[in-house]
Amino acid sequence: MADADDIREGNDFGIGIPVPNQNFYLKGHDNAGFGIKNRMANMFNKKSGNSVMLAFDHGFLMGPTSGLERVDLNILPLAPYVDVMMGTKGMVRSTVPAECETPIALRADAGTTLLTTMNDNECMSVEEALAMNAQCMAVMLSIGCKDTEATTVKNLYRLADKANPLGMPVMGITAVGKEMARDARYFSLAARVCAENGANIVKTYYCEGFEKVVACTPVPVVIAGGKKLPELDALDLCYKAINAGAVGVDMGRNIFQSEDPAAMAQAVSGVVHDGLTPKEGLDMFNTLKEA
Ligand code: 5RP
Repeated sequence: MADADDIREGNDFGIGIPVPNQNFYLKGHDNAGFGIKNRMANMFNKKSGNSVMLAFDHGFLMGPTSGLERVDLNILPLAPYVDVMMGTKGMVRSTVPAECETPIALRADAGTTLLTTMNDNECMSVEEALAMNAQCMAVMLSIGCKDTEATTVKNLYRLADKANPLGMPVMGITAVGKEMARDARYFSLAARVCAENGANIVKTYYCEGFEKVVACTPVPVVIAGGKKLPELDALDLCYKAINAGAVGVDMGRNIFQSEDPAAMAQAVSGVVHDGLTPKEGLDMFNTLKEA
């Protein structure tokens, strides 16, 4: 057991030094099997190495929140503009047409809502996710939340144990709760715990010092968007995260609650894949919005 009275904070992250001897284009996956690599490659663009994932899983916690009242009307038209659609099994099965060509990431845990405690959840089965042709299963970890941390860590490592041998990648989502600090120290801890317990992708939040979070996480890191921001600020968040080493976004409200979600999805993609600056992204948003 670690000595809790002598936890020395890391300070040498080798920021900017690439991981040596990597052949596969996604960090930490050289030793993965064909199924994992193939699914990862379906989600992350081979040219940019990055991904725009559209998260519309909020309903399982929040109900029909703004922008998700009708997933068929609000979300499906955005599918051509993103690399991955991330939703729950119930919403995907009921609403996404089987002809949809955009890969699906499944929100794989459930059990509590915003009305109760934070994500003390169960996971869906890997067989069901495989049957739905999902490219990845995503579960939340509430690190630092004394009531649910143990359950959510167990969920992740048990899911990774089952999913990885079947070729199914797992995404660990670092929760943010009222009692959790939103800084590089917290997100580094949470992201690293996800990776050490078997996550193939870590989804976390952008913060000051984000380079450290990415550097100490041995697998690809993507960011969530969080609450709706003005479009320029949301594009700035994407830009800073990509420049700090993130390989994409798994973004919801800043796309589907935008004044023009299709224009915003394309502007985010411009920043994530094509290196647009936030200002160039905003120009693109305004041009598409007016078209
Ligand atoms: C919540 C999630 C959401 O998918 C995540 O928060 C992304 O959405 P947003 O960009 O709206 O924050 O994982 O559990």
